[in-house]
Parts: sequence; structure tokens; C-alpha cells
Amino acid sequence: MLSRLVIVLGLVLLPFSAVAGEPLCKRLGGSDAVSAVVKSFLTKMRKDDADKLGRFWLYRGDDGVAREEQLIVDFVQSATGCGRLYVGRSMSAAHKGMGLSAADWNRTAELLRTTMTEFSVPADLQTEVLDLVSTTRGDIVECEAETFGCK
Ligand code: HEM
Repeated sequence: MLSRLVIVLGLVLLPFSAVAGEPLCKRLGGSDAVSAVVKSFLTKMRKDDADKLGRFWLYRGDDGVAREEQLIVDFVQSATGCGRLYVGRSMSAAHKGMGLSAADWNRTAELLRTTMTEFSVPADLQTEVLDLVSTTRGDIVECEAETFGCK
């Protein structure tokens, strides 16, 4: 009786454990879905107010922006397990000297969360993505100011 119960429970729970064991990329809907979310999020960053995150893209050329966008898509696809190779710079090298503050970071996280909500990413996956992105915070944020930029 007990062994039958274990088998039945196992069969019921198997699909859930299989889903949980899948890479984050797949659970987000695959490489194309990850790319679409990242591109939409980056558009929001670029269009942000000039005294907030938009200040970084005020005088950037199109080709530089396109290159940066592709690198960030590659980075996120690689980090979420899409099997993508990231060949860009380290996070510390790429952001060193930009003067990114805690306020910049919080605004970035807010725009990412808004984007994922627009793409109907479930709350638990949003948290997983934000936790993953947060592992880069120490390499990117240069001061803990609650104002945009480090003075
Ligand atoms: C906190 C707000 C952030 C701002 C304002 C920001 C801004 C920028 C800018 C302006 C560049 C272009 C640098 C250049 O061309 O020299 C860049 C590059 C990049 N950023 Fe960020 N970034 C932020 C956070 C992040 C985060 C959280 C990630 C990763 C999840 C990330 C990943 C990258 C990557 C992969 C590159 C390309 C590196 C390369 O050129 O080799 N950034 N970022």
C-alpha cells in the first residue's frame, strides 16, 4: 500500500520537479523570449529621463548602442542557461567610472520588473531573474547614494 502511494505521489510530482529543474532560460520561454524582454527593458533604460538612467544614452551613436544591446542579450542568455556564449567585458570593466549609485540600481531593477510584468513573467520567475541580476551589483554600483549618480 505504502509503495503504491509513493509511486502515485512520484508520478504526480514528476512534472513539477522536471519543470523546476529546467534552466531559467527555458522557464522564461526560451532564448527569443529572453531576448525580447531584455530589448524592451533596454529601450526603457534609454528612454528614461535625462536626469535618471537616460543620461547614459544622450549622445551615443546607433552602432554602439546596437552592439551594447547585443552584448547584454548575450550576457543574460548566457547567465540564464540559454547556452549562449558571452564574449564581452567583465561587469566591473564595462561599468567602471560610470558613477552608478544605489538609486540608479533601484531604478534599473524597477524598469526590469515593469518589463517582465508587461511580458506576463510570473512573480516567482521575476524574483529569480532579479536575484540573478543582483549578483552583478557589487561590480556595477560605485556608491550607495540615494540620488542618481555618484557625486
Ligand atoms: C545599473 C544600471 C546600468 C547602467 C546605467 C548601465 C549602462 C551601461 C552602458 C552605458 C554600457 C555601455 C558601455 C560602453 O559602451 O562602454 C553598458 C554595457 C554593458 N552592461 Fe550595463 N548598465 C547597467 C547595469 C547593467 C546590468 C545590471 C547588467 C547585467 C545584468 C549590465 C550588463 C552590461 C553588459 C553585458 C554590457 C556590455 C559590456 C561590453 O561592452 O563588453 N549592465 N552598460
